[in-house]
Amino acid sequence: MYFRQAPGSHPAQYLGRLRMPRKKVIAGNWKMYKTPEQTVAFLHDFLPEVKGHTRDEIVIAPPYIDLYAAVQASEGSNVAIGAQDVCWREECALTGEISSGMLLSVGCTHVIIGHSERRQFFAETDDIVNLKLKAALEAGLVPIVCVGEVLEEREAGLTEDVLRRQCMRAFSTISAAKAAKMIVAYEPVWAIGTGKTATPQMASDAHVIVRAEAAKAFGQEFADNLRILYGGSVKPDNAKTLMAEQEIDGALVGGASLDPKSFAAIVKY
Ligand code: PGA
Repeated sequence: MYFRQAPGSHPAQYLGRLRMPRKKVIAGNWKMYKTPEQTVAFLHDFLPEVKGHTRDEIVIAPPYIDLYAAVQASEGSNVAIGAQDVCWREECALTGEISSGMLLSVGCTHVIIGHSERRQFFAETDDIVNLKLKAALEAGLVPIVCVGEVLEEREAGLTEDVLRRQCMRAFSTISAAKAAKMIVAYEPVWAIGTGKTATPQMASDAHVIVRAEAAKAFGQEFADNLRILYGGSVKPDNAKTLMAEQEIDGALVGGASLDPKSFAAIVKY
């Protein structure tokens, strides 16, 4: 247990902010890779590698069609299964969509929301992210909300503005009690799938901004407990350095989560 830096110097102010360390979450985002058969084969190799690992929470988010197989194959293990997206509506006439109730029905516990590929290629706006976040929280899923700037925004010095806007609008009209399970992932878009990683300092700076927005929306205590993951070219050889940062509460891993050995090495950074 330790004290986070608090403004002011009176000991009582520190006492009010005593908290447990945040347990890290290592999540794999498989994107549009693997069939159900390949999912089962992956888990067959991966589960023994991470058996008994309790230091971090482990989540895998395969494509929708693999969810059922993934839940069955990981039953009783220390690996939770998440979806990569969810519709904000419940059961209704919306061709091609999947509801949070449907995710729960197959044993899914987590869901990624607002990944930059959804924002970039499927026109997902901050308002849609907000609707999806509300739906996931309402259903009892653990949402992993993604935020992050594109390269032009970083180069124009707009990173802070972008992160503030994305967080503010994602968190809008949600109570701290409702948001309790939420996880955020900071994923600079220029680092996703490019082999370029944010330096631990860059990631930490961004996490501080996200945490400050969470404090504005939900209060300081909530923000102190919020897990903020870093995502963008996390690999077995950079995971340890990134995870050593006090501000970084885990990783959202794309490419390197597709191979059981490489994802296990990241989990065991
Ligand atoms: P990457 O993807 O690890 O392949 O860069 C991360 C993500 O998009 O979540």
